[in-house]
Amino acid sequence: MKCSICGKEAVRFIPYANIALCKEHFIQWFERRFFRHLEEYKILEGSRKVAVAVSGGKDSVTLLHLLKKASERYGFELFGITIDLGIDRGTQYSRKSVDIAVYNFRQLNVEYEVVSLKDSYGFTIDESKAKINRPVCSTCGLVKRYVMSEVAEKNGADTLATGHNLDDMAQYVLSAYVHGDLEYVLRNGPVTPPKPGFQVKKVKPLFLTPEEEILHYALLNGFQFIYDPCPYSEEFKRVSKEKLGLIIKRVERDYPGFTVGLVRTFEREIRPRLSAESRSEELGRCKICGRATSPGRDICSFCSIRIKLTGMGTSQSEARNS
Ligand code: AMP
Ligand code: FES
Ligand code: ZN
Ligand code: ZN
Repeated sequence: MKCSICGKEAVRFIPYANIALCKEHFIQWFERRFFRHLEEYKILEGSRKVAVAVSGGKDSVTLLHLLKKASERYGFELFGITIDLGIDRGTQYSRKSVDIAVYNFRQLNVEYEVVSLKDSYGFTIDESKAKINRPVCSTCGLVKRYVMSEVAEKNGADTLATGHNLDDMAQYVLSAYVHGDLEYVLRNGPVTPPKPGFQVKKVKPLFLTPEEEILHYALLNGFQFIYDPCPYSEEFKRVSKEKLGLIIKRVERDYPGFTVGLVRTFEREIRPRLSAESRSEELGRCKICGRATSPGRDICSFCSIRIKLTGMGTSQSEARNS
């Protein structure tokens, strides 16, 4: 297979674009598309300080490297956040993930903060698994969203970037159709502007980039990232959203371009109409931490979890309430 651009040996065939690319041209093509998406969807418009949440996995490590290039082009400040979730179960998963994130921050000379869930909030995800009766991945997702936003704000960022990729977004869209959980996809768009209770703009710059291409780009560039799956991932695979992910991959094989089409059409045609229709409900304020709560709730979900696990509120909130 020869590169469609220069005729050298190709490293990848892109079925939906019907082109084969050599290493150099794949990297160039991938990066040009990244910058095109940033501009087309105005992802970093007006951003002066971008916090990037890095788990140590291929997606967020790749995003960090791409945002470093973008910061040099557009002149915004870049700040790294990695959360030590306290997941071990004999695998040292969190310790390895944090080490890899820090390795990448240092390699790129990006200022960063390592947030230990245990030191800052008094509990770990392993403890939540033992003591809270809900799927561990759902507790973990909720905790990560809260901590990322809080730490980004505390460090003066106006934007928080995460490594969600095309396959993640396609799962959200399809799940909205299959299970009717429209709220989730509406809350998790590629660009969520700040609103009362959420000071930072949340962005997903890789939302149209296929997971397999991110992996290939990361490998070709020799990035250091963690290959090990989270020790709870087997549990997650039983959840139907993950099964939808496998169905999407299968359809993509037979119908190249299905996944990009699914997400792009949703973003261009469907989200704007649904957003215009949906009422924006007045959010409440958490009595413990002062951050936003769902309408009608006194205590946010994060603080409820924290109280169950530690029996206390946050020290910040204790200060705020005193
Ligand atoms: P996940 O929910 O694990 O699919 O992760 C989605 C995104 O959240 C990742 O691409 C990262 O940007 C961010 N993220 C996940 N885990 C962490 C972590 N431990 N520390 C910092 N960011 C994270
Ligand atoms: Fe959160 Fe696996 S990373 S449960
Ligand atoms: Zn080439
Ligand atoms: Zn709270």
